[in-house]
Amino acid sequence: MKIAILPGDGIGPEIVTQAVRVLEFFRAEGEKIELDCGHLGGAAYDAEGDPFPESTQRLAQAAEAILLGAVGGPRYDTLPRAVRPEQGILGIRKALGLFANLRPAILYPELVASSTLKPEVVSGLDLLIVRELTGDIYFGQPRGRRDNAAGEAEGFDTMHYAESEIRRIARVGFEAARRRGRRLCSVDKANVLETSLFWREIVSDEAKAYPEVTLSHMYVDNAAMQLVRNPRQFDVIVTGNLFGDILSDEASMLVGSIGMLPSASLDANNKGLYEPCHGSAPDIAGRDQANPLATILSLAMMFRFSFDRQDLAARIEGAVRTALAAGRRTADIALGAEQVIGTRAMGDAVLAALKTSGDAD
Ligand code: IPM
Ligand code: MG
Repeated sequence: MKIAILPGDGIGPEIVTQAVRVLEFFRAEGEKIELDCGHLGGAAYDAEGDPFPESTQRLAQAAEAILLGAVGGPRYDTLPRAVRPEQGILGIRKALGLFANLRPAILYPELVASSTLKPEVVSGLDLLIVRELTGDIYFGQPRGRRDNAAGEAEGFDTMHYAESEIRRIARVGFEAARRRGRRLCSVDKANVLETSLFWREIVSDEAKAYPEVTLSHMYVDNAAMQLVRNPRQFDVIVTGNLFGDILSDEASMLVGSIGMLPSASLDANNKGLYEPCHGSAPDIAGRDQANPLATILSLAMMFRFSFDRQDLAARIEGAVRTALAAGRRTADIALGAEQVIGTRAMGDAVLAALKTSGDAD
């Protein structure tokens, strides 16, 4: 298993370190795992003057899967857009054709009280957001600055989706729903946007190939509201790049903390980039405070999707649950009187639980 490691910026290096300990643990058990490290984002700009340099492009192409920490930080906010850290992450998604972003929001029973929503609304939540990741207004051309007809300066972007882009992400949504609760909700803004109207037509057409899945459509404003009103009505949500960005951050709070949310970004052959949904949290970087669980859970997704190793994925997820059940809490998921531990100690707890799971095999 050839894995590229891109720690990135802010808390990225600390949380990735804990995930790498998990990989090293499996390697010590005899798994053939090859790790190569590279730069992305601000770290890459600092090292090579480019947020997605050639060296990282080669590394990423050669790997079977990529583990990413997070990118960005206030130090880079004043740089020209072309070299800002976010261009690193957008660049790698585009270059590798990682069009399918899977963001599961699962509420662990141990964390029910950490959610800002009432237990009776969120307990048992298990929802998957399938976000299109290489199209939409994120990449649409033209974009930029210009003078409008009245001679006033304006900024503009372009939203568009090609039929093939909609079909392939719709299929990912239907396939996922078929293996889960068989309900797919497509989220758009078809009451206003031409792009969304087309999206809705194409998704509805794809539905013909999946008679066992119940398809519904929802406007994005309503979906944002329904997610906090009654999130368990959803099984799988499929949506575009921009709406998926926003709704997945919202969904993260349902499960207690964005520090718990992993993600997978897959190409057509299940090669993937795996990263936590949260950002680089510059305010707590380097202080051993960040929650490494979203990154560790991203590894579980890597074993599941890119390496078809359900056994290792299940062991990681089991170890995370054991650590939570034992009361191990980083600051983001701790309540009032609960004792708070650091990034490394949470890594220790997961490793200890993994060791026990190995002994039990
Ligand atoms: C995410 C992030 C990125 C995005 C940023 C960092 C470019 O918010 O992965 O959700 O908008 O896609
Ligand atoms: Mg986001």
